[in-house]
Amino acid sequence: MTRFTVNNQPIEYKLDPATPLLWALRDASNLTGTKYGCGTGHCGACIVDVDGAAVKSCMVTIAAIEGSFVTTIEGLSRERAHPLQLAFIAANVPQCGFCIPGVIMAAAVLLKRDGNPGEDAIKAAITNICRCGVYPRLIDAIQRAGRAARGEETIPAGA
Ligand code: FES
Repeated sequence: MTRFTVNNQPIEYKLDPATPLLWALRDASNLTGTKYGCGTGHCGACIVDVDGAAVKSCMVTIAAIEGSFVTTIEGLSRERAHPLQLAFIAANVPQCGFCIPGVIMAAAVLLKRDGNPGEDAIKAAITNICRCGVYPRLIDAIQRAGRAARGEETIPAGA
């Protein structure tokens, strides 16, 4: 039995302790917003927040995060959309959209650490691979979300 908290819910997983977190989330918890891209730690599609760090969930076993607090894209915001989600919609960031949950989770971790990141800080933190190449738009959206979180800008829902 491996215990940790996912999106504020304590969960006991009756899985092999060597199970990658990605598969516990997707298969056991049906949290399919976390994506399987490469399975080798390169693409970032599987990134979730583990105790405040952006973690590639394909690369960590559930045993390694016993007792941790995990947030997935489904738990990023409960009552209303997160500023990153609003900014990504407003800037039409997603193209195919497959990589976006991992990008948003990595960006959310970045914005908690640095509410006003410059382009270089974003490029250093967001190493996710996007086959559609939406990198310029996502940099703008992350900076806009930072401004919204600081109360300097309002992003209309569904803009
Ligand atoms: Fe985990 Fe690509 S699926 S880094």
